Amino acid sequence: MTAMIYPTTNPAAAEQMMVTRGEGPYIFDQHGKRYLEGMAGLWCTALGYGNEEIIEVAQQQMRDLSFSHMFGGKTHAAAIELADKLAAMVPMSDGRVFLGNSGSDANDTLMKLIRYHAEASGQPNRIKVIAREQGYHGVTLASAALTAIPTNHTHFQLPFEALGVLRTGSANYYRGGHDGESESEFVARRAQELEALILAEGPDTIAAMIAEPVSGAGGVIVPPAGYFDAVQKVLDRYGIWLWDDEVICGFGRLGTDFGATKMGMAPQMITLAKALSSAYVPISAAIVQGDIADCIAASATDVGVFGHGYTYSGHPLGCAVASKVIDIYQRDHIFDHAAKVGSYLQTRLAEFAGHVLVGEVSGVGMIGALELVADKPTKRPFDGMKVGQFCAKAAEGHGLIIRPLGGNRIAVCPPLIIENSHVDELIEKLGAALDATLDWVTAEKLI
Ligand SMILES: Cc1ncc(COP(=O)(O)O)c(C=O)c1O
Repeated sequence: MTAMIYPTTNPAAAEQMMVTRGEGPYIFDQHGKRYLEGMAGLWCTALGYGNEEIIEVAQQQMRDLSFSHMFGGKTHAAAIELADKLAAMVPMSDGRVFLGNSGSDANDTLMKLIRYHAEASGQPNRIKVIAREQGYHGVTLASAALTAIPTNHTHFQLPFEALGVLRTGSANYYRGGHDGESESEFVARRAQELEALILAEGPDTIAAMIAEPVSGAGGVIVPPAGYFDAVQKVLDRYGIWLWDDEVICGFGRLGTDFGATKMGMAPQMITLAKALSSAYVPISAAIVQGDIADCIAASATDVGVFGHGYTYSGHPLGCAVASKVIDIYQRDHIFDHAAKVGSYLQTRLAEFAGHVLVGEVSGVGMIGALELVADKPTKRPFDGMKVGQFCAKAAEGHGLIIRPLGGNRIAVCPPLIIENSHVDELIEKLGAALDATLDWVTAEKLI
């Protein structure tokens, strides 16, 4: 064991794989074994590994200007170029861009901007944020409070109440739908529950509702048709902003530029990270509608400074790489490619619906999941996470990386550059892993 404290790892099961290099959609371990990266790292390596164009831009930027901060009146060309590009492409008119380093800090930034805006607009109580069950928004103090995954909460004593975090139900119809309830009835019920929460708390105390277009770490939960339309209608009725967490869905993951486009969302706040740089360097963006930014700017001018910023906000390397990555997305029509290959991926994943262990197949575009259950007709779940973890280990044995999530859901989220032949490879290896898992749960008498 080394001196490392590993992130999101069971300390008793750390250091199981040493990853040494990557090439296209593949990674290699220290023994030279090749794995299809069926999770694009952590839902992020959209353009795969070793892209020479990106490497070239990164080298040039480091030579030209390895660092310049953005405090106190300083700026630089790479940051301005990126901010303007993002503002032009996000599904929001007059978006204003604050740059950070991770999805978590982008979400923390918006939590703070909500509070700043509440003060600046003379509504100091309008600071509460509605977040959904099974949502994942990061692990810094505020973003972890927005997250609703039990293992991200246990022992951390998160200040939910102080931060004004309210919780509403997830869009998970498979688990959340009542017996005999149709999808559209489920959607209507979720909208009613949301409205009841807003009325109980007081609409003028609530600033925003945060939602991923498709919840990733919560299990790849694809909302039923009409879900965001119904949610947005409720929010609009009370002037509550929709905060669109695009950290996974942004930049083609659902086969469209942003998840909001696919889901018909009209957000006032957006967070971006991961595929923003295709994970070549850490960078994130928190984007707000112009009127929100103007209100904050007017107040900050009175104070004499807008007192929020990271040393690495607008780091030149991150900005140059993200700009190049966006250029590649657009030049190579990567979002259309993701839609095309994604549709093939969904067709092939759907084949697993007949597998005895698979209770639900979910997915859209280049993201999907299987929920492994002990009994399909009753949806009886397996205890803990062991079955999903076994399946992921078995997939590794076959040279495929997938990710076990809570509720024994296993996720796939491959780089967007893959072709149908890679989908076939993924499906074949996933099928072998599922069969090995079935043998194991049978031997262990878990079904
Ligand atoms: C939807 C969503 N938001 C925010 C985050 C946090 O991003 P980061 O891990 O870069 O802090 C993640 C990370 O997986 C995410 O999936």
